[in-house]
Amino acid sequence: MLFPVVLIVLVGGAVSQITTGAPHTHKPAPDLESALGRRAHFSMILDLLRTTGLLTQLKALPQVTLFAPTNAALSSIPNDEYQDLKADVPRLTSLLKYHVTTDQAFHTTGRANDVVFNSLDNNLPIRINIYKIVHTIAAEGVNITDKDIRVANGFVQGIDNVMQPPNGDVVDIINNMDNTKMLAGLINSAGLESAIRADLNITVFAPTNDAFAKLDPQVLTYLQNNPKALTEVLLYHVVKKTTLYSIGMRHAMTFQTADKHHDNLMLIEGNNDDIYLNHAKVDDRDISATNGVIHTIEDVLVPTTVLVAIEDQGLLVG
Ligand SMILES: *[C@@H]1O[C@H](CO)[C@@H](O)[C@H](O)[C@H]1NC(C)=O
Ligand SMILES: *[C@@H]1O[C@H](CO)[C@@H](O)[C@H](O)[C@H]1NC(C)=O
Repeated sequence: MLFPVVLIVLVGGAVSQITTGAPHTHKPAPDLESALGRRAHFSMILDLLRTTGLLTQLKALPQVTLFAPTNAALSSIPNDEYQDLKADVPRLTSLLKYHVTTDQAFHTTGRANDVVFNSLDNNLPIRINIYKIVHTIAAEGVNITDKDIRVANGFVQGIDNVMQPPNGDVVDIINNMDNTKMLAGLINSAGLESAIRADLNITVFAPTNDAFAKLDPQVLTYLQNNPKALTEVLLYHVVKKTTLYSIGMRHAMTFQTADKHHDNLMLIEGNNDDIYLNHAKVDDRDISATNGVIHTIEDVLVPTTVLVAIEDQGLLVG
């Protein structure tokens, strides 16, 4: 009987060591500046942090996590844009602060999906996703490629792209984008705005104006005159309570939509990195919102029950 008890104690001890951070046998972690300085692939972010004076500020914080774009990530910005950004210190500072949180010294072990941190000063969400099937942890849909670099007051998480701060919630963004005006109007007339805003981790596949233009005008009129059918069609484009950035997508993945029948959609990988949602081609990917993510698609998807009702009217969809 003694043996199992000893085992449990040992396992318990190991777990508490992982969750409380560095065991005391570790060497003290270097400060942020030295940690970045000894890694050649972070020389550009180090330079930007110095340029803005943020480096001194971050080193002095009691706890911090820096999401640090690698040199490869920063080099993917066209050079003239990069030089403009570097010369515009207020804009650069604001972008860099979006890559910092002081909520918690965040390390990637054992974190739940859809955890959201607030960025430094500007209080915008930095969303973490764990996509187990592709063995990936992402921040705002950007891969964390260089995980958990310990520094004296927290962690650096190396990321392979620059994160873009969200410009409002899902409804705000759909209302403001030129190519989703049609969808914005329909969401409004179906009375779905508040439900979409209320879900704090939502994925919306947003048909563009061109997608709606492909529908027979009589089909659109039918939907506008039948609020229940319209609601079903709109919610068929929504995945509730989880955010799916393209980095987490995989061929033949299916997921349940928010319509009444919980219909499934399937992702298909096509040629040249194209992705389809059922037959609809995904257009703009990974438009981050404060409460989720939007991808635009080039066709309107119609769930079976509504399809049948429309065909009963002697109409054809697409
Ligand atoms: C959804 O988001 C909220 C707020 O960010 C978070 O607290 C919650 O845990 C998330 N829900 C799920 C199911 O992950
Ligand atoms: C993200 O980065 C990790 C570490 O480099 C890599 O193993 C993983 O495959 C990447 N994920 C995707 C989806 O590219």
